[in-house]
Amino acid sequence: MCGIVGYIGHREAYPIIIKGLQRLEYRGYDSAGVALFDKQGIHLCKTKGKVAELATKCSADLNTQAVMGIGHTRWATHGEPNDINSHPHLSNSGDLVIIHNGIIENYETLKIELENRGYNFTSDTDTEVLVNLIEEVQKQEKVKLGKAVQVALSQAVGAYAIAIYDRKKPNEIVVARLGSPLAVGIGDNEFFIASDASPFIEYTKSAIYLEDGETAVIRIGKEIKVRKIKNDSIVKPYVQELQMNLDQIEKGGFDHFMLKEIYEQPEAIRDTYRGRMLPEKGIIRMAGVDDHLSKFLNARRIIVVACGTSWHAGLVAEYIFEDLARIPVEVEYASEFRYRNPVINKNDVIIAISQSGETADTMAAINLAKENGAFVFGVCNVVGSSISRASDAGAYTHAGPEIGVASTKAFTTQITVLSLIALKLGKEKGSISISDFNMYLQELELIPDKIEKSLQINEHILKVADFYKNAKNCLYLGRGYNFPVALEGALKLKEISYIHAEGYPAAEMKHGPIALIDEEMPVVVIATRKGHYDKVVSNVQEIKSRKGKIIAIVTDGDQQVSKIADHVISIPDTFEAFTPLLTTIPLQLLSYHIAVMLGKNVDQPRNLAKSVTVE
Ligand code: M6R
Repeated sequence: MCGIVGYIGHREAYPIIIKGLQRLEYRGYDSAGVALFDKQGIHLCKTKGKVAELATKCSADLNTQAVMGIGHTRWATHGEPNDINSHPHLSNSGDLVIIHNGIIENYETLKIELENRGYNFTSDTDTEVLVNLIEEVQKQEKVKLGKAVQVALSQAVGAYAIAIYDRKKPNEIVVARLGSPLAVGIGDNEFFIASDASPFIEYTKSAIYLEDGETAVIRIGKEIKVRKIKNDSIVKPYVQELQMNLDQIEKGGFDHFMLKEIYEQPEAIRDTYRGRMLPEKGIIRMAGVDDHLSKFLNARRIIVVACGTSWHAGLVAEYIFEDLARIPVEVEYASEFRYRNPVINKNDVIIAISQSGETADTMAAINLAKENGAFVFGVCNVVGSSISRASDAGAYTHAGPEIGVASTKAFTTQITVLSLIALKLGKEKGSISISDFNMYLQELELIPDKIEKSLQINEHILKVADFYKNAKNCLYLGRGYNFPVALEGALKLKEISYIHAEGYPAAEMKHGPIALIDEEMPVVVIATRKGHYDKVVSNVQEIKSRKGKIIAIVTDGDQQVSKIADHVISIPDTFEAFTPLLTTIPLQLLSYHIAVMLGKNVDQPRNLAKSVTVE
C-alpha cells in the first residue's frame, strides 16, 4: 500500500509530485508528504489527511522551485495516521530523507540496536528505523548512499519500495524494491519515480520496472544504474514502451472514477476478448493457454487463489470451468491458502486472479504453489505487475486502469477472461459440442451491448437507491452462477457505503439468516430466468411472508418474481453462464448511488487501499 513519487530533472518538481500523489491516492490516503531538494537543503512538508490537504499546507510552507524531490501518500501500517508518522522521514543527522511503501518486519530489533548506538526516534514507523539504519551503515562503512542502501536492506526483513536522498550527494536519488512495485520513467535528461506509471504518463512513455531485489542510483543528466542488492552485480534494465494514456486515468466528465469504470465495462469487455475470440472462425486464441494447453488438459484440478472481488470472480470461474470444461475447481482465499499447508500437486494448475497484480497474499500463494511444482497461470489487469511476472503464463484482462477502490470493471473482465479459457478447454476436451461452443462465442460477443442496455436503467436504480439509502443492513441472495454475484453485491455496498451487508446462496437462508428478516431488512435477490428460477421464487416468497423488502434483479419480461418484489430491476436475457456479467451491473450502480447519497467518499472509502501489498 502507499504511493511513492519522485522527480529529478529540469522541471519544477513540486507540481509533478503533488499531481502524481493524487493519481496514486488509490494506494492509500490517510496522510501525505513531500520533500524538495535545492541548494539550501531539504524542504519538508507533511500532514495527516489527503493530498489535497498536503497541497494546501505546502503551498504556504514551501518556497522553492526545486527540480528534485520525493513525495508519499500513506496507508498506515506502523503508527497511526498523523503528521509525525507521515512520510518522508529524516535520519537523525537530517542528511537523509526517505519515502517507503511496504513493511520492515524486523524493525523493532533494528530499532533497539540503533537506540543502543544513540539514535532517537520521533515517529512510530518502521521507515524511520530504515533511514537511520542506512545512516548508520554510511557512518560505519564510509560508503556512498547506493552501497549503504544495499547493506542496510540486506539486514532488513520485509517488503519495500523506497526512494532516498542524501543532502551530501545533492544530484542523486537512490531507489530499491522488494515486494512493492517501483517504476522509473525515463525522459529527456529527467527521471520520474513512482509506484506505477500514472504520475508520469504525460511526460514519457519509456519506463523501467525495477525487479525484486534491485536497487538503482538515479543521477541528474546521467544514465540510471541498476544493481542487485545481494551481490552488487550490474543489471541491464529493460526499458518498456508504456501503453497507458492520460484520458484513461482521468475522470472524463464523471463525478467519480467508480462511475466512469462502471460505464467503461462494455468497452473493457470488448478489449478483453478482442483478438482472442474469433466467432467467425469458431476459435479462441490465447497465447498463455495455447502454449501450455497440455498443462490445462491434464490438470488434476484447478485451484484459484485470489482476494476480495477477484476471489468472487474465481467463484464464478468455478461454476463455468466445472460446467463447461468439466475440470474440478477449488477456490481459495489466498490469505488462507498460503498458511494452511495445502496439498499441492504437480498436476494442479493454479490460477491467480488479481486486478493490481500486487496483492501480497496472492503473491505468497503463488510462491507456495511454485515451490510445490504446480503450474501458475496469472489473470491480472496491471501489465508488468509482480503477479503477472511471477506466473508461468497468464492472460491480461485489458480493462485499462481501475482507480476507484471498489473494483467494478476488473470483476467483469476477469470473468470474461476466465469464460474464454473455460470455453476453449471445454471445446478441446469435447465437453461442449462445437455448435454450443459457437453459440457461446456469439452470445459473449453480445454481452457488451447488453451491459449498455443495463446501464440505461440508471435513473430507475437511482430511485431504488433513494428508497433504501438509510438501511442499516442488507442481505444479498443468489443461486448457482449468481451466488458469487450476491457476495460481490454485498461487498460493494459495505465497502463504499459502510452499510452492513451479507451475501448468501439463496437456499442457505433457511439455515440461519432468515431469522434476520423483518420489515426493516432489504433483501436483494438475483432471480434471473435461467438456473434455479423456481427455487428462487420460493425463496422470495419466504422473505415476503416475513415482511422483508425485496429488490429483485430479474430477466426482461419476468412475471412471477416481479409480482412479489417491492422493487424490480430488469436486465436482458443471456446464457446462464454469462448472467454474472449482467446481474452485477445494477448491483454496482445501487451501491454507488447509495454511497453518494450518504455523502461517502466513493473512490476512496475509509481504511481501504486499492493495492493491498501488506498481509
Ligand atoms: O488487486 P486485487 O484484485 O488482487 O485486489 C484484491 C482485493 O483487494 C480487491 O478486489 C478488493 O476486495 C476491492 N476493494 C473490492 O472492491
